[in-house]
Amino acid sequence: MPANFKLDLTHRPRRLRRTASLRALTEETVLRPANFIAPLFVVEGKSRPEEIKSMPGVFRLNIADLVKECQELAKLGVPAVALFPKLDSKLKDDDGTAALNEDGLILRAVRAVKKGVPELTVMTDVALDPYTTHGHDGVLNAARDDVENDRTVGILMKMAVLHARAGVDLVAPSDMMDGRVGAIRKALDAADFTGTGIMAYSAKFASAYYGPFRDAVGSASAAGTNLLSKATYQLNPANRRTALIEAALDAGEGADIIMVKPAGPYLDIIREVRQATRQPIAAYQVSGEYAQLHAAARLGWLDLPRTRHESLLAIKRAGADMILTYFAKEMAAELGK
Ligand code: PBG
Repeated sequence: MPANFKLDLTHRPRRLRRTASLRALTEETVLRPANFIAPLFVVEGKSRPEEIKSMPGVFRLNIADLVKECQELAKLGVPAVALFPKLDSKLKDDDGTAALNEDGLILRAVRAVKKGVPELTVMTDVALDPYTTHGHDGVLNAARDDVENDRTVGILMKMAVLHARAGVDLVAPSDMMDGRVGAIRKALDAADFTGTGIMAYSAKFASAYYGPFRDAVGSASAAGTNLLSKATYQLNPANRRTALIEAALDAGEGADIIMVKPAGPYLDIIREVRQATRQPIAAYQVSGEYAQLHAAARLGWLDLPRTRHESLLAIKRAGADMILTYFAKEMAAELGK
């Protein structure tokens, strides 16, 4: 090959990647603090923040510390938080009755955050797993080999109304029972909470990436494993069409926001749901996705700030309008600079 070899090319796409300013001009996807929802774990009492072993940098917070954390998030431009309670195991039972305790931890946490940081959007999970001794998201049938769909939905309706009364902006049914979105919508409306929205965990897969979260809320220790199978209600990771059916049902039943979860390993699903629905789409970068990046970074095998950014950019590029991520605070801080 001669040293002055030239291709006769009309198209040289690298022209637009030549300088930083050209790359900035042609950038298609941009992350901003307002894209993020911070999941936060709350505990009873006055104890100092306890770090979750499998989620470095994520803590279980008492209510006072939770409010402080929410203030910091709001200051950084993060518009929303999703709250999860970790209950004392003594309060758990087979039917998750503590979920309907009118002075329960999550309700006090919601009221405190709403009072301390009124501008912040607050959402809560509607599912029974933090409250049950078996760790399932619903109550069990007599044979104890499956959740009882309709009886569970009856409980979730009451739970959603309690959360609405405490002041949440959005309830987030994460249980995957059939018909729960419509039932919760009716229950909220009947109780005059027509303004309380529903973020539906619509395409929630039976994923092994939830392990660290189950440690965080204690549903793993209740169940004796963080790999409890929820395959009769969460979606089969092998399926795409099922996700579209679920998203369409939830939208029809009145879901305001449709969620896909996990996010990173399910970018194809985010894209397909984006094309199939008009609703805003949330994607949940789950605990295992977070843990994975931290573990590799600890080994010195991946660069955390760069993989963190890239993982979230990919989720947004796939079609998510908003992302639940344990990186919310540090990302907002980084983007605000
Ligand atoms: C429970 C719930 C789970 C998550 C959010 N809500 C776990 C599960 O379904 O077992 C997972 C979140 C995460 O892994 O970060 N209904």
